[in-house]
Amino acid sequence: MMRDGSVLVLLGPPGAGKGTQGERLASDLGIPKIATGDVLRAAAGAGTPLGLEAKAYMDRGDLVPDEVILGIMRETLAAPDARKGAILDGVVRTVPQAEGLEKILRDLKRDLAAVLFFELNDAEAIRRAAGRTVCADCQTPYTGLAAGTRCPKCGGTLVRRRDDEPEAVRNRLREYQAKTAPVVAWYVEHRYPVLRIDAVGPVDEVAARVRRALSI
Ligand code: AP5
Repeated sequence: MMRDGSVLVLLGPPGAGKGTQGERLASDLGIPKIATGDVLRAAAGAGTPLGLEAKAYMDRGDLVPDEVILGIMRETLAAPDARKGAILDGVVRTVPQAEGLEKILRDLKRDLAAVLFFELNDAEAIRRAAGRTVCADCQTPYTGLAAGTRCPKCGGTLVRRRDDEPEAVRNRLREYQAKTAPVVAWYVEHRYPVLRIDAVGPVDEVAARVRRALSI
């Protein structure tokens, strides 16, 4: 299913495990995972103009404007380390972004191998956000490790995300229903392979479903 240079799109609500499963897929397939959320948080931490603009949207749980995201997508997909292919984690969240990505891939002569759509109910999404910490340096998400402890992967400090507070999570779920859920129908309508993954269950079980769906 994956040809050299092609990309996989991971779609799903907050907390569906896009980051967790994307990390595993990146290591299984030997290609980078690109997550706009991570790129924007890193820019916000560094205090760049892009980061400062994005931070206000992210802290509330609102989506960042499409033109900002499309600029990031074009830049990261054209970078040398993404030439072998890439996993796009939460990168496409609106129909204009899906249309924009289609154009970018056409310009770069690349193709979209499949869309992995992780399905999760709201109650579980809220529960996972409440239990999550992330590494301030490498952005790896954890459950069951308190803020302030060291990241087992890189030694960075684990922190809570501002947008994991209950009100911001509810807003992210509203944004998801209004703007991102229609993206799945867009991909089906435009005849891209959409692989539905039940995201409820232990991480290893979900990972096995992903590998089965992709025949890897
Ligand atoms: P982003 O960082 O992408 O957040 P999100 O899409 O809301 O997704 P999450 O990171 O919350 O969840 P995830 O699906 O990656 O789950 P994870 O693996 O971490 O985006 C943040 C913000 O950036 C957006 O709100 C927006 O403002 C902006 N943004 C980003 N991209 C944008 C775009 N394209 N357009 C506009 N704005 C954009 O798992 C969650 C937790 O659950 C973890 O603690 C994990 O350990 C645990 N977990 C994972 N899998 C399981 C499992 N199977 N069972 C139990 N626990 C699990």
